[in-house]
Amino acid sequence: MYKINENYLKLPGSYLFSTIGKKVNEFTAANPEKKIIRLGIGDVTLPLAPAVIDRMHKAVDEMSSPETFKGYAPDLGYEFLREAIAVNDFKTRGVDIALDEIFISDGAKSDSGNIGDIFDIDNKIAVCDPVYPVYVDTNAMSGRTGEYLPELGKWSNVIYMPCTAETNFAPELPKERPDIIYLCFPNNPTGSTINKDELQKWVDYALKVGAVIIYDAAYEAYISEEDVPHTIYECEGAKACAIELRSFSKNAGFTGTRLGFTVIPKELKCGDVTLNSLWARRHGTKFNGAPYIIQAAGAAVYTEEGKKQTQEQIAYYMNNAKVIRDGLASAGYTVSGGVNAPYIWLKTPEKMTSWDFFDYLLQDANVVGTPGSGFGPSGEGYFRLTAFGSYENTVEAIERIKKL
Ligand code: MLT
Repeated sequence: MYKINENYLKLPGSYLFSTIGKKVNEFTAANPEKKIIRLGIGDVTLPLAPAVIDRMHKAVDEMSSPETFKGYAPDLGYEFLREAIAVNDFKTRGVDIALDEIFISDGAKSDSGNIGDIFDIDNKIAVCDPVYPVYVDTNAMSGRTGEYLPELGKWSNVIYMPCTAETNFAPELPKERPDIIYLCFPNNPTGSTINKDELQKWVDYALKVGAVIIYDAAYEAYISEEDVPHTIYECEGAKACAIELRSFSKNAGFTGTRLGFTVIPKELKCGDVTLNSLWARRHGTKFNGAPYIIQAAGAAVYTEEGKKQTQEQIAYYMNNAKVIRDGLASAGYTVSGGVNAPYIWLKTPEKMTSWDFFDYLLQDANVVGTPGSGFGPSGEGYFRLTAFGSYENTVEAIERIKKL
């Protein structure tokens, strides 16, 4: 008899957002008359910007004629898109990234899950706690995390870096030496950020101990404060120790159309081997590229019109973030996040666990959020709301919560 990958059997429950989706579907089936407001999963609600849609339509037409039809995309992605990224995301920040250091993909979720392929199974990972569950679950699937300890809500072979109110929701350098460090700033789920000096400490640490940083910058477009780095490569030495993941989902609404990219500088080496060459090999072998239509639409994000329109969308969501933050604070909740990120992190009322509060909000306010404990044990007693709803729904949700 064939054997399955038994690591999958060690995973507790289903993927966080699938569990939430199931609970909400059950509630709506039992209460069809209730109007549910979803501020749970970080999914955008505004339509794609007009500049993006125009380019997408044009790209669809190009596919209809033999002269302009496109088949397989180039391995790393179309050069027009990588060029736009190198100039707009990096050169403007004083960072030189070569076109063959950028790998276009179908999104940061896949990349953050797949990147583990190029590392030995014996590497030890360090993650923030709470954390975006994909980093941990995908390492568990490949057998890198040891055993799941249900009483602790932790894996036996993972270094957890608590991000609590005491640490201003930022991680501290771990006592035990990790091989692979996952960082996400602006942070999902807490909405916190660290400044450039603090990020430099992580880069210096990784270089010192010989670790690699997987830096998830999916929420970079939401940074509003001066001193917050937009890319890890703003830090000195980062090209020799960090991989950066980026997404078009949150800055330009591509959650349904799927587009992202990973940057692996050629300076990043393990002995003589560049990680760039390993990822290029993996990418070329296991992936056939994001569709031309979507890459063309992605390039439109970097046009003058595209930039203006997507910045307006971000401002719209950040106004929602302010509505949530201010509204909850006035109702007596302890809140953080929502300034450089579209997530608001609130403390659940006394004696209520994160899941208790989830059920309470769903039942009594018909509002869906995400329980903090779903992101890790240090998330217990917290709750995440997203700013990605419509303005009207956001205002209504906060009014309902205030009335509870
Ligand atoms: C979230 O809600 O944490 C995000 O939507 C998840 C994701 O981007 O995959």
